Amino acid sequence: MVSFKSYFFQASIVLVLLFMIMTPSLARLHVQVSSGEINDICSKTFNPSYCVELLKSTPKTATADLKGLAKIILDLARSNATKTLDHIHSLIPKTTDHRLKESYQACSEHYDNAIGDLDKAESDFKQGDYFGMNIQASGALDEAGDCHDENEGLPADPSLRKGNQDLEYICEIILVVANLLKGSN
Ligand SMILES: *[C@@H]1O[C@H](CO)[C@@H](O)[C@H](O)[C@H]1NC(C)=O
Repeated sequence: MVSFKSYFFQASIVLVLLFMIMTPSLARLHVQVSSGEINDICSKTFNPSYCVELLKSTPKTATADLKGLAKIILDLARSNATKTLDHIHSLIPKTTDHRLKESYQACSEHYDNAIGDLDKAESDFKQGDYFGMNIQASGALDEAGDCHDENEGLPADPSLRKGNQDLEYICEIILVVANLLKGSN
């Protein structure tokens, strides 16, 4: 059986490879992203319905072009990861389970790294380095998977599992959008 982490690790490698060979035609930089394009973007992620719901529930996406969409999702990923990190910090002093405390501490490092990766993804994006943006977002995705693995078999707070999954799903959307941006160059 393929573990959760290696599943996402392999998936992120596949997405990086796809990035290098794909020359998508749907990307048009200064044109509003239509709902059809949102469906198209989301169909390339592991959880299309999560993606569609997230993008459609974020009001600014309605008037965004592809670059605008990229910025919105990068910000979403960063604020999501920051909130999860804050939550992890609040869990650490509350647990008396030594192994669980250690896993939360490891997760707090993974989230520090993930936030660092997302900051780099954003500066790469601003510089038009969409390949770098893709690599950094894959890094953040892997950090969420690492945190998930830290908690394997431990009575971890269920919201942490959701936080990891949310960050993975959101990072995947960044990967797809980075691919499209690269194709539109
Ligand atoms: C992360 O984003 C998802 C989707 O918008 C949301 O459901 C979730 O509550 C967010 N998590 C945190 C910790 O902000």
